[in-house]
Amino acid sequence: MLSEFQETLLQSVQAFQSTQLVKNKYENVLQHLDSGILLFDSDGVLTFINVQMAKLLELPRQSLIGCNLLQLLRHPYLSRFKQKKIARIYRETIFHRRKYHELIDEYGRHWLITVTYGDQMDGDFLLSVKDVSDYKQIEQTAYQNDKLAMLGKISAAIAHEIRNPLTAIRGFIQLLRPHLLQLGKDEYARIILMEIDRANDIIHEFLNSSKPSAPQKTVVSVPSLLKDTLLLSESEALMKGCEMRLQQINESLLVSIDVKQIKQVILNIIKNAMEAIEEVQGDHAGMIEIGAKQEGNYVNISVKDNGNGMDKTLLTRLFDPFFTTKEKGTGLGLSVSYKIIKNHGGTILVDSMKGEGTVFMISLPLTHQV
Ligand SMILES: Nc1ncnc2c1ncn2[C@@H]1O[C@H](COP(=O)(O)OP(=O)(O)OP(=O)(O)O)[C@@H](O)[C@H]1O
Ligand SMILES: [Mg+2]
Repeated sequence: MLSEFQETLLQSVQAFQSTQLVKNKYENVLQHLDSGILLFDSDGVLTFINVQMAKLLELPRQSLIGCNLLQLLRHPYLSRFKQKKIARIYRETIFHRRKYHELIDEYGRHWLITVTYGDQMDGDFLLSVKDVSDYKQIEQTAYQNDKLAMLGKISAAIAHEIRNPLTAIRGFIQLLRPHLLQLGKDEYARIILMEIDRANDIIHEFLNSSKPSAPQKTVVSVPSLLKDTLLLSESEALMKGCEMRLQQINESLLVSIDVKQIKQVILNIIKNAMEAIEEVQGDHAGMIEIGAKQEGNYVNISVKDNGNGMDKTLLTRLFDPFFTTKEKGTGLGLSVSYKIIKNHGGTILVDSMKGEGTVFMISLPLTHQV
């Protein structure tokens, strides 16, 4: 028989054990949450840190319990990057009373940090960190889609506004044509009319950029295609002090292409080359070399510049719609070009070296019919 005292003692032990069990259970849950958790007490001493947080800090958990913030910041294994981020979060929480912070870590992941303190915490200070990279990705995609929708509306408005003056210019050039003919300058009228038609087509293409029109193919020789295209950018190159060189190209290379679309691609690439050359500081002799060589059943058209070149990160994003490093760029030039070349059954490749220059290589299937 247990005495009354022993029974009370047993009950207390059991109550303690069950409280302990519940405590362990909750601690276990906190330990294995996918968010990182840090708890400082009212004296600023770290009393709890879960596995995920220790992983994020890349520090052993046991070495942190009992540290204060200063000791944590001076931890010998804490990276300089993390040290700076923690100090910033502390500053913004204390001085600017911000309870939410967002940061990008050295691996490019996005983190949301929430700080909880005040009366409900009995003087404790809780910091939780959550990986929100996936949400960020969704947010960015939504933003990109918004931009696309906006672009659709803007381009519709622009197309409407630009087409009218273009039609008027076209009409007046046709009226002027006999006079230009008398002056022996009919070639000018022909180029202006051709360019107006090209501008109209580009607007049309732009409006339908989500479903690019099927190429209207004709057979042309590669050297004449390149000569015509170069003629269009020669004056701009001259103004920018860029030399353009067209290599000797085999006349028998024929391609079946939508001439306007492919011209647009080559002009986009030449324009980029000129802009890249402009970026080079100091007295720099800009040079753009254009060539074409047969490679099996394909022709490789190359456009090489000695502009500022690109690093690896930039190269990976080059063909993304809206990716631009230019203040006035739309970032659509190469993404549209990519689509056009793909629609022609070709490929477009690029090789570049920062500070050295860039070469674009367009590969198109050759044709034999005339
Ligand atoms: N030849 C090149 N040399 C260096 N960087 C280049 C070159 N071509 C493209 N780029 C880089 O690729 C980015 C994307 O080019 P893209 O033609 O798609 O857009 P953009 O030139 O910025 O804008 P837009 O074509 O609308 O004027 C450019 O902003 C530039 O950073
Ligand atoms: Mg461009």
